[in-house]
Amino acid sequence: MKDREIVERVRDATDLVALVGQAVKLRKQGGAFVGLCPFHSERSPSFQVVPNRGFYHCFGCGKHGDAFAWLMEREGLSFPEALEQLARAAGIEVPRMRERPAAEVDQEARLRGVLETAQGWFERQLEASPQAQDYLRRRGITEAFAKEAGFGLAPDGWEGLVGHLRGLGISPDLAELAGLASRTERGTVIDFLRGRLTIPIHDGRGRLVAFGGRILGDGQPKYMNTRETALFRKGETLFGFQRAKGAARDGLLVVEGYFDVLQLHQSGIAQAVAPLGTALTEEHLKLSARFTKRLILCFDGDAAGRRAMEKSLRLALPLGFDVRLLELPQGEDPDTWCMAVGAEAFRELVRRAPDWTSFVLAHALEGKDLRRVQDRMAAFQDLLEFLPYLPDTPQRRELFASLAHQLQLPRAEVERAVRERRLRAGGGAPAPEASAAHGALDELLRPLVLLAQDAAGRAAVAELPHAWWEGLDGAPLLQAVLDAEGDEDLLPPEALAQLRRLEGERARRDEMAPVPGRAFSRLESAFVHRELQAVNRQLLDPRILGDEALKRRLEDRQVGLLRRKSDLARLLRVPSGAGPSAT
Ligand code: UTP
Ligand code: MN
Repeated sequence: MKDREIVERVRDATDLVALVGQAVKLRKQGGAFVGLCPFHSERSPSFQVVPNRGFYHCFGCGKHGDAFAWLMEREGLSFPEALEQLARAAGIEVPRMRERPAAEVDQEARLRGVLETAQGWFERQLEASPQAQDYLRRRGITEAFAKEAGFGLAPDGWEGLVGHLRGLGISPDLAELAGLASRTERGTVIDFLRGRLTIPIHDGRGRLVAFGGRILGDGQPKYMNTRETALFRKGETLFGFQRAKGAARDGLLVVEGYFDVLQLHQSGIAQAVAPLGTALTEEHLKLSARFTKRLILCFDGDAAGRRAMEKSLRLALPLGFDVRLLELPQGEDPDTWCMAVGAEAFRELVRRAPDWTSFVLAHALEGKDLRRVQDRMAAFQDLLEFLPYLPDTPQRRELFASLAHQLQLPRAEVERAVRERRLRAGGGAPAPEASAAHGALDELLRPLVLLAQDAAGRAAVAELPHAWWEGLDGAPLLQAVLDAEGDEDLLPPEALAQLRRLEGERARRDEMAPVPGRAFSRLESAFVHRELQAVNRQLLDPRILGDEALKRRLEDRQVGLLRRKSDLARLLRVPSGAGPSAT
């Protein structure tokens, strides 16, 4: 098929190692490239890219796919979009595919156009305002970074922007739909942001979708952001994500405010993001999870900051995030602290942020009078929210012992309550690094599955008697591969995952292609061995011993099997490669 050919060509033309390598540090190992999986949190690499087969696979979490899947997963692109992007990069022309309704696409494009126009206008207003420039300077933002970050100014008037847009033929209605204008009670349309520094907000794919506005100096509200629109959903947007996503190898650093993110980015700590004046949401975490499952939370060192930390932990731990906490001195935020200690020192703080346990422990007992049984129970209930997510280490056992002592509970009771909680949370503890979710595959079947990847091998394997392999571990996989006849789309997902893992293993070890003759002889030899055992068992059965005819038949079979056994043994003694190919 035509479409299919184009897809194949684009896939072949794409340098998967380079593409994935933008986000994951890869090291060559045999024919594969390995690195830390960007889809789950791990300390030793179980993620790999196999360039000559065009896919990536993680042994830990089972995620796998090709270049298209990578962009769809990570950038949230649709398949046609991923195809278009990779085709463009490879200089391959793609005929237009079916798309969303034209009206919808047009409307979005119009809104984007309006936002871009506004951005240009805001920037020009900033260039014309020494006062606003001075404000930025005082906050430690250099002129160069102000340009890079796209800072602008919404002057203090009613319809500067609306008027400018109107002059370009953009209706106030459209400005309103883009979130840039509001309608007054008298029905006139006015600028939404007035007398504020403007900060562009981008979506997960780096497209301008909204603006934040900070008042210059004091005043209320300090920050506003333009309304939610067809392009902008606050609860799904992380400020700074478009820069952070490419720098999140060591985790995303979640801070509270616009200026925290901007100051950190200016200091080269590009992994910083912030929610837009709301708590972290599950949607935010899903967006992060496309890039990293490690979070470093850095909230203000006050009571509200602490509550936000706990709330985020409650959300992130059950989703399997590795969460670290960075606490700053009271009264400081990442913006002020980074300026105070310098970028290098701040980076080091991020690198060394401890995991969440000590924070949770310290605060669970705070304000509680452990002499009172109600307080002890309340502290324990608080802790139970977090304890199930502790990794199982010797420290954890020590910790439980110490808690049991402080709360005057039997240690077994602590353990039991945590276990029960964990079950209720759906086994929520961090997933083990290499999960055993993959089906087993008998070593005898392994070469057959590999051989069955190409048409000639598949034909040879299909000729083998089913009895040789049907009872072995992995037989359903081999059957699926044979049935799919080379079309991977026909493979069930588990089979495809298992296959990827196998090919990955092979590339990693730089294994040679299996030699069909030897693989088949081994398989047969194991079969003969199993058959002989069965025949021998039957020959000891008193009921069979009484049946002369049956006994004779079994003995003949035994002789035949023994002869075959020694033939096969002789064949297999010849070193591989040099041997006759007994297919
Ligand atoms: P903060 O009040 O902690 O301010 O708000 P900040 O980030 O330190 O601001 P600067 O340094 O004085 O400029 C944290 C975040 O909460 C949201 C904004 O996203 C802000 O960055 N916020 C705050 C609002 O949405 N509206 C407000 O009126 C205040
Ligand atoms: Mn601040």
